[in-house]
Amino acid sequence: MEELILFRIDWFGKNNLLSKKERLPGHIAIIMDGNGRWAQKRGLPRTAGHREGARTLNRIVKYCSTIGIKYLTVYAFSTENWSRPKSEVDALMELLKEYLDKADKELEGHDVKINVLGSSERLSEDLKKKISNVVEKTANNKGLVLNVAFNYGGRDEIVNAVRKIAQDVKNGNIKIQDINESLVSKKLYTAGMPDPELVIRPSGEKRISNFLIWQSSYAELWYSNVLWPDFKEKHLMQAIKDFNKRHRRFGGI
Ligand code: IPE
Ligand code: IPE
Ligand code: MG
Repeated sequence: MEELILFRIDWFGKNNLLSKKERLPGHIAIIMDGNGRWAQKRGLPRTAGHREGARTLNRIVKYCSTIGIKYLTVYAFSTENWSRPKSEVDALMELLKEYLDKADKELEGHDVKINVLGSSERLSEDLKKKISNVVEKTANNKGLVLNVAFNYGGRDEIVNAVRKIAQDVKNGNIKIQDINESLVSKKLYTAGMPDPELVIRPSGEKRISNFLIWQSSYAELWYSNVLWPDFKEKHLMQAIKDFNKRHRRFGGI
Protein backbone atom coordinates (compact mmCIF):
# COMPACT_ATOMS: atom_id res chain seq x y z
CA MET A 1 0.00 0.00 0.00
CA GLU A 2 2.75 2.42 1.02
CA GLU A 3 4.65 1.67 -2.17
CA LEU A 4 1.52 2.34 -4.14
CA ILE A 5 1.12 5.73 -2.46
CA LEU A 6 4.76 6.56 -3.13
CA PHE A 7 4.39 5.60 -6.74
CA ARG A 8 1.26 7.68 -7.13
CA ILE A 9 2.87 10.70 -5.51
CA ASP A 10 5.99 10.30 -7.62
CA TRP A 11 3.78 10.60 -10.65
CA PHE A 12 3.30 14.26 -9.73
CA GLY A 13 7.02 14.94 -9.66
CA LYS A 14 10.03 14.25 -7.51
CA ASN A 15 9.52 17.30 -5.26
CA ASN A 16 6.22 15.90 -4.12
CA LEU A 17 7.64 12.61 -2.97
CA LEU A 18 6.86 11.54 0.59
CA SER A 19 9.67 9.72 2.32
CA LYS A 20 9.16 6.36 4.01
CA LYS A 21 8.99 8.06 7.42
CA GLU A 22 6.32 10.51 6.36
CA ARG A 23 2.63 9.69 6.42
CA LEU A 24 -0.57 11.15 5.08
CA PRO A 25 -2.95 12.78 7.54
CA GLY A 26 -6.10 10.66 7.81
CA HIS A 27 -8.36 13.69 7.55
CA ILE A 28 -7.52 17.07 6.03
CA ALA A 29 -9.76 20.11 6.42
CA ILE A 30 -9.46 23.23 4.27
CA ILE A 31 -10.91 26.72 4.74
CA MET A 32 -11.23 27.74 1.10
CA ASP A 33 -10.57 31.45 1.61
CA GLY A 34 -9.41 34.31 -0.61
CA ASN A 35 -11.72 33.97 -3.62
CA GLY A 36 -12.95 37.55 -3.35
CA ARG A 37 -9.46 39.06 -3.16
CA TRP A 38 -8.29 36.89 -6.04
CA ALA A 39 -11.04 38.36 -8.22
CA GLN A 40 -10.58 41.93 -6.99
CA LYS A 41 -6.90 41.81 -7.83
CA ARG A 42 -7.89 41.10 -11.42
CA GLY A 43 -10.67 43.66 -11.59
CA LEU A 44 -13.25 40.87 -11.75
CA PRO A 45 -16.47 40.50 -9.75
CA ARG A 46 -16.07 38.48 -6.53
CA THR A 47 -18.21 35.71 -7.99
CA ALA A 48 -15.50 35.08 -10.61
CA GLY A 49 -13.22 34.23 -7.70
CA HIS A 50 -15.74 31.76 -6.32
CA ARG A 51 -15.98 30.12 -9.72
CA GLU A 52 -12.21 29.77 -9.94
CA GLY A 53 -12.24 28.48 -6.35
CA ALA A 54 -14.60 25.69 -7.40
CA ARG A 55 -12.11 24.68 -10.11
CA THR A 56 -9.34 24.59 -7.54
CA LEU A 57 -11.54 22.40 -5.37
CA ASN A 58 -11.91 19.85 -8.16
CA ARG A 59 -8.16 19.69 -8.67
CA ILE A 60 -7.46 19.30 -4.97
CA VAL A 61 -10.16 16.64 -4.53
CA LYS A 62 -8.67 14.59 -7.36
CA TYR A 63 -5.19 15.00 -5.95
CA CYS A 64 -6.30 13.93 -2.47
CA SER A 65 -8.05 10.93 -3.96
CA THR A 66 -4.97 10.02 -6.02
CA ILE A 67 -2.48 10.20 -3.16
CA GLY A 68 -4.78 8.23 -0.86
CA ILE A 69 -6.27 10.74 1.61
CA LYS A 70 -9.32 9.17 3.27
CA TYR A 71 -11.26 12.26 4.42
CA LEU A 72 -11.28 15.81 3.06
CA THR A 73 -13.57 18.46 4.55
CA VAL A 74 -13.83 21.82 2.80
CA TYR A 75 -15.45 24.97 4.12
CA ALA A 76 -17.60 26.40 1.34
CA PHE A 77 -20.22 28.55 3.10
CA SER A 78 -20.42 29.46 6.77
CA THR A 79 -23.51 30.28 8.83
CA GLU A 80 -22.01 33.80 9.00
CA ASN A 81 -21.70 34.13 5.22
CA TRP A 82 -25.44 34.91 5.02
CA SER A 83 -24.45 38.44 6.05
CA ARG A 84 -22.89 39.04 2.61
CA PRO A 85 -24.79 40.95 -0.10
CA LYS A 86 -27.73 38.91 -1.40
CA SER A 87 -26.27 38.82 -4.89
CA GLU A 88 -23.12 37.11 -3.63
CA VAL A 89 -25.08 34.67 -1.43
CA ASP A 90 -27.29 33.79 -4.40
CA ALA A 91 -24.24 33.23 -6.57
CA LEU A 92 -22.72 30.89 -3.96
CA MET A 93 -25.98 28.90 -3.79
CA GLU A 94 -26.00 28.63 -7.59
CA LEU A 95 -22.38 27.57 -7.62
CA LEU A 96 -23.00 24.73 -5.17
CA LYS A 97 -25.89 23.53 -7.33
CA GLU A 98 -23.65 23.54 -10.40
CA TYR A 99 -20.87 21.82 -8.49
CA LEU A 100 -23.20 19.05 -7.34
CA ASP A 101 -24.66 18.66 -10.82
CA LYS A 102 -21.24 18.22 -12.37
CA ALA A 103 -19.53 16.35 -9.53
CA ASP A 104 -20.41 12.94 -10.89
CA LYS A 105 -18.81 13.58 -14.24
CA GLU A 106 -15.96 15.69 -12.96
CA LEU A 107 -14.85 13.16 -10.36
CA GLU A 108 -15.54 10.10 -12.47
CA GLY A 109 -13.22 7.22 -11.73
CA HIS A 110 -12.21 8.63 -8.34
CA ASP A 111 -14.87 6.75 -6.35
CA VAL A 112 -15.50 9.84 -4.18
CA LYS A 113 -18.24 9.74 -1.56
CA ILE A 114 -19.80 13.18 -1.10
CA ASN A 115 -21.43 14.48 2.10
CA VAL A 116 -22.71 17.96 2.78
CA LEU A 117 -22.21 19.10 6.37
CA GLY A 118 -24.34 21.90 7.77
CA SER A 119 -27.86 23.03 8.44
CA SER A 120 -30.47 22.64 5.70
CA GLU A 121 -32.38 25.60 7.16
CA ARG A 122 -32.63 28.50 4.69
CA LEU A 123 -31.50 26.34 1.75
CA SER A 124 -33.88 26.22 -1.24
CA GLU A 125 -35.89 23.07 -1.94
CA ASP A 126 -34.03 22.74 -5.23
CA LEU A 127 -30.63 22.82 -3.53
CA LYS A 128 -31.71 20.38 -0.80
CA LYS A 129 -32.87 17.98 -3.51
CA LYS A 130 -29.58 18.23 -5.36
CA ILE A 131 -27.71 17.59 -2.13
CA SER A 132 -29.69 14.47 -1.26
CA ASN A 133 -29.34 13.20 -4.84
CA VAL A 134 -25.58 13.45 -4.83
CA VAL A 135 -25.25 12.03 -1.31
CA GLU A 136 -27.44 9.09 -2.27
CA LYS A 137 -25.69 8.52 -5.61
CA THR A 138 -22.22 8.42 -4.08
CA ALA A 139 -23.16 6.73 -0.78
CA ASN A 140 -21.59 3.40 -1.69
CA ASN A 141 -18.36 4.82 -3.12
CA LYS A 142 -15.33 3.49 -1.30
CA GLY A 143 -12.68 6.11 -2.06
CA LEU A 144 -12.10 9.58 -0.64
CA VAL A 145 -14.88 10.96 1.56
CA LEU A 146 -15.45 14.59 0.54
CA ASN A 147 -17.37 16.64 3.10
CA VAL A 148 -18.56 19.97 1.75
CA ALA A 149 -19.29 22.21 4.74
CA PHE A 150 -22.09 24.42 3.48
CA ASN A 151 -24.29 26.58 5.71
CA TYR A 152 -21.98 25.17 8.33
CA GLY A 153 -21.03 26.71 11.67
CA GLY A 154 -19.17 24.95 14.45
CA ARG A 155 -21.22 26.61 17.17
CA ASP A 156 -24.45 25.88 15.34
CA GLU A 157 -23.37 22.25 15.04
CA ILE A 158 -22.72 22.00 18.79
CA VAL A 159 -26.04 23.70 19.62
CA ASN A 160 -27.78 21.09 17.46
CA ALA A 161 -25.94 18.29 19.20
CA VAL A 162 -26.96 19.68 22.61
CA ARG A 163 -30.60 19.78 21.49
CA LYS A 164 -30.50 16.17 20.31
CA ILE A 165 -28.92 15.03 23.56
CA ALA A 166 -31.42 17.02 25.66
CA GLN A 167 -34.23 15.38 23.73
CA ASP A 168 -32.75 11.92 24.39
CA VAL A 169 -32.55 12.70 28.12
CA LYS A 170 -36.10 14.04 28.11
CA ASN A 171 -37.36 10.90 26.36
CA GLY A 172 -35.58 8.76 28.92
CA ASN A 173 -33.29 7.16 26.29
CA ILE A 174 -30.15 8.24 28.15
CA LYS A 175 -29.19 9.52 31.60
CA ILE A 176 -27.29 12.75 32.26
CA GLN A 177 -24.33 10.62 33.42
CA ASP A 178 -24.21 9.04 29.92
CA ILE A 179 -23.24 12.39 28.34
CA ASN A 180 -19.55 12.33 27.47
CA GLU A 181 -17.19 13.46 24.68
CA SER A 182 -17.82 10.41 22.59
CA LEU A 183 -21.60 10.93 22.74
CA VAL A 184 -21.27 14.59 21.72
CA SER A 185 -19.03 13.55 18.78
CA LYS A 186 -21.71 11.12 17.66
CA LYS A 187 -24.26 13.92 17.45
CA LEU A 188 -22.14 16.14 15.19
CA TYR A 189 -22.34 16.21 11.38
CA THR A 190 -19.05 14.31 11.32
CA ALA A 191 -20.39 11.38 13.38
CA GLY A 192 -18.35 8.25 12.77
CA MET A 193 -15.48 10.07 11.05
CA PRO A 194 -11.97 10.59 12.42
CA ASP A 195 -11.12 14.13 13.58
CA PRO A 196 -9.13 16.27 11.15
CA GLU A 197 -5.38 16.04 11.76
CA LEU A 198 -4.45 18.95 9.52
CA VAL A 199 -6.41 22.17 8.98
CA ILE A 200 -5.26 24.35 6.08
CA ARG A 201 -6.16 28.01 5.65
CA PRO A 202 -4.91 29.86 2.61
CA SER A 203 -5.30 33.62 1.96
CA GLY A 204 -3.19 34.88 4.88
CA GLU A 205 -5.92 34.88 7.54
CA LYS A 206 -4.99 33.12 10.74
CA ARG A 207 -8.27 32.20 12.33
CA ILE A 208 -10.68 29.30 12.49
CA SER A 209 -13.85 31.26 11.60
CA ASN A 210 -16.18 28.77 13.32
CA PHE A 211 -14.90 25.75 11.35
CA LEU A 212 -14.90 22.29 12.99
CA ILE A 213 -14.25 23.84 16.41
CA TRP A 214 -14.98 20.63 18.31
CA GLN A 215 -13.26 18.27 15.89
CA SER A 216 -10.09 20.33 15.39
CA SER A 217 -9.15 20.66 19.03
CA TYR A 218 -5.84 18.85 18.39
CA ALA A 219 -5.40 19.41 14.67
CA GLU A 220 -2.20 20.93 13.30
CA LEU A 221 -2.89 24.29 11.65
CA TRP A 222 -1.19 25.29 8.41
CA TYR A 223 -1.46 28.76 6.92
CA SER A 224 -0.43 30.16 3.58
CA ASN A 225 -0.67 33.56 1.90
CA VAL A 226 -1.70 31.92 -1.37
CA LEU A 227 -5.30 32.75 -2.27
CA TRP A 228 -7.54 29.70 -2.67
CA PRO A 229 -7.99 30.00 -6.46
CA ASP A 230 -4.16 29.95 -6.77
CA PHE A 231 -3.78 26.98 -4.41
CA LYS A 232 -1.99 24.10 -6.15
CA GLU A 233 -1.26 20.45 -5.49
CA LYS A 234 2.29 21.43 -4.47
CA HIS A 235 0.89 23.61 -1.65
CA LEU A 236 -1.10 20.70 -0.30
CA MET A 237 1.97 18.49 -0.42
CA GLN A 238 3.95 21.23 1.36
CA ALA A 239 1.31 21.26 4.11
CA ILE A 240 1.51 17.46 4.42
CA LYS A 241 5.29 17.61 4.63
CA ASP A 242 5.16 20.34 7.30
CA PHE A 243 2.55 18.31 9.18
CA ASN A 244 5.06 15.46 9.32
CA LYS A 245 7.63 17.76 10.96
CA ARG A 246 5.29 18.79 13.77
CA HIS A 247 5.68 17.22 17.18
CA ARG A 248 2.18 16.40 18.34
CA ARG A 249 1.93 16.02 22.10
CA PHE A 250 -1.84 15.85 22.82
CA GLY A 251 -1.20 17.34 26.24
CA GLY A 252 1.65 14.96 27.06
CA ILE A 253 5.36 15.80 27.13
C1 IPE B 1 -13.98 32.27 0.58
O1 IPE B 1 -13.54 33.38 -0.10
C2 IPE B 1 -15.29 31.75 0.07
C3 IPE B 1 -16.41 32.00 0.97
C4 IPE B 1 -16.35 32.51 2.16
C5 IPE B 1 -17.72 31.65 0.47
P1 IPE B 1 -13.97 34.85 0.33
O2 IPE B 1 -15.20 35.22 -0.42
O3 IPE B 1 -14.08 34.96 1.80
O4 IPE B 1 -12.73 35.67 -0.20
P2 IPE B 1 -12.06 36.91 0.51
O5 IPE B 1 -11.68 36.49 1.88
O6 IPE B 1 -13.08 37.99 0.52
O7 IPE B 1 -10.88 37.22 -0.35
C1 IPE C 1 -14.52 31.38 6.15
O1 IPE C 1 -14.11 32.43 5.36
C2 IPE C 1 -15.68 30.69 5.52
C3 IPE C 1 -15.40 29.98 4.27
C4 IPE C 1 -14.26 29.90 3.67
C5 IPE C 1 -16.53 29.34 3.69
P1 IPE C 1 -14.63 33.92 5.64
O2 IPE C 1 -13.96 34.77 4.65
O3 IPE C 1 -16.11 33.94 5.67
O4 IPE C 1 -14.10 34.17 7.12
P2 IPE C 1 -13.75 35.53 7.84
O5 IPE C 1 -14.94 36.42 7.68
O6 IPE C 1 -12.54 36.09 7.16
O7 IPE C 1 -13.47 35.14 9.25
MG1 MG D 1 -12.75 35.42 3.25
